[in-house]
Amino acid sequence: MTNKKIRVGIIGFGFIGPHHLDAIRRLGFADVTAIATTSLKEAKSKAEQYHIGKAFGDWRQLIDDPEIDVVDIATPTHLHHDLALATIQAGKHVIVDKPMAITSRQAGRMLKAAQGAGVVHALTFNIRYNVMLQHARAIIDKGNIGDPRFIHGHYLQEWLLKDTDYNWRIDPEKAGPLAMVADAGAHWYDLAEHLTGLRIVRMLADFSTFIPTRRKPAKNGKTTGFDVSVPDLGMVMCEFENGARGLFNVSALCAGHKNDLSIEINGSRSSLRWQQERPNELWIGHRDEPNQILLKDPPLLDSSIRHLATLPGGHNEAWPDAFRNLMKRILSFIASGADPASTNEIDFPTFATGCRVSHIVDAIAASAKAGGRWKPVKG
Ligand SMILES: NC(=O)c1ccc[n+]([C@@H]2O[C@H](COP(=O)([O-])OP(=O)(O)OC[C@H]3O[C@@H](n4cnc5c(N)ncnc54)[C@H](O)[C@@H]3O)[C@@H](O)[C@H]2O)c1
Repeated sequence: MTNKKIRVGIIGFGFIGPHHLDAIRRLGFADVTAIATTSLKEAKSKAEQYHIGKAFGDWRQLIDDPEIDVVDIATPTHLHHDLALATIQAGKHVIVDKPMAITSRQAGRMLKAAQGAGVVHALTFNIRYNVMLQHARAIIDKGNIGDPRFIHGHYLQEWLLKDTDYNWRIDPEKAGPLAMVADAGAHWYDLAEHLTGLRIVRMLADFSTFIPTRRKPAKNGKTTGFDVSVPDLGMVMCEFENGARGLFNVSALCAGHKNDLSIEINGSRSSLRWQQERPNELWIGHRDEPNQILLKDPPLLDSSIRHLATLPGGHNEAWPDAFRNLMKRILSFIASGADPASTNEIDFPTFATGCRVSHIVDAIAASAKAGGRWKPVKG
């Protein structure tokens, strides 16, 4: 590993950008040396607030800055493609927040460009690196729950409950035509494949839009009507390569659900369930002995992933800790100087992972369009 600190520039510093910063600063061997946002004024004010050396109002300047080794893209999704291609063209390593792009075509171009340029490419499917989920993955991999047969869960939130709720995530230009089904859904599809080690091969989907017109904030403090063309509820079925079936619901119309991702895997021997809102617990379901709730405690976790828990038992670890675990993997790989072609999608998600998830999203879109018929996942 190099002795020099890895220098990261973050483009986009709204909700998720500062969490990238937080995860990176906790590592010690990397730092965020610059940020870029839509305006120089905003960038300067945030750089001052967080003690970041440089601020840019134009993302091109950040990419061109010779003092930046890695560009981390945390803007709304429609910009990921162009910003990633510009980064790759500049010969720099690139991290992109999920979902990777608006279309699978864009995602494919990003993967091809990154592979061609020989740079490290990573995607922040951060939820996976919660230590209890990594424990679940390790014990599924060892065959402890038997063959996965039924994988089910949801990603439910409440931020679209009222017709006055508006965010770029329901604008198809910025978030893509499937909105949450692709955006929040991406975490779940990735998680289902990552935990089971199985590929999803076909999808069946049904969409609803319960609030067809919303009130979008206008500059004068008033609101304008916004016709919603994206689903606000998605119900998705899937089949895995071993014949296992999956069921997933996604919506932000669900009062009381703050950030409620859940995933349950029923195997031929036992079951596992994890809920994002109770991140230190793993439910283990048995038929011939009492069910268990495993509380996070490093000595009780699989030895292969125990190191991902950095606090002793009773000290809760949650969303920011999973983010730190992911950033540590990405940035230590970069610091090691290893061949970018040797990345392993289990260690951290790459653009190849993002491409696969975008093919899953394509199959979901095709199924809903066909009135709920099974459609194969390409690739
Ligand atoms: N991994 C996760 O769990 C997670 C969670 C939330 C969001 N996200 C993803 O992160 C991305 C950003 O989401 P967010 O919630 O932070 O959005 P946001 O709207 O809160 O922030 C977006 C930021 O991008 C900046 N920006 C917009 N256009 C720009 C441009 N042309 N040049 C430079 N900066 C520009 C804005 O100034 C703002 O700072 C999205 O792709 C989203 O899906 C991921």
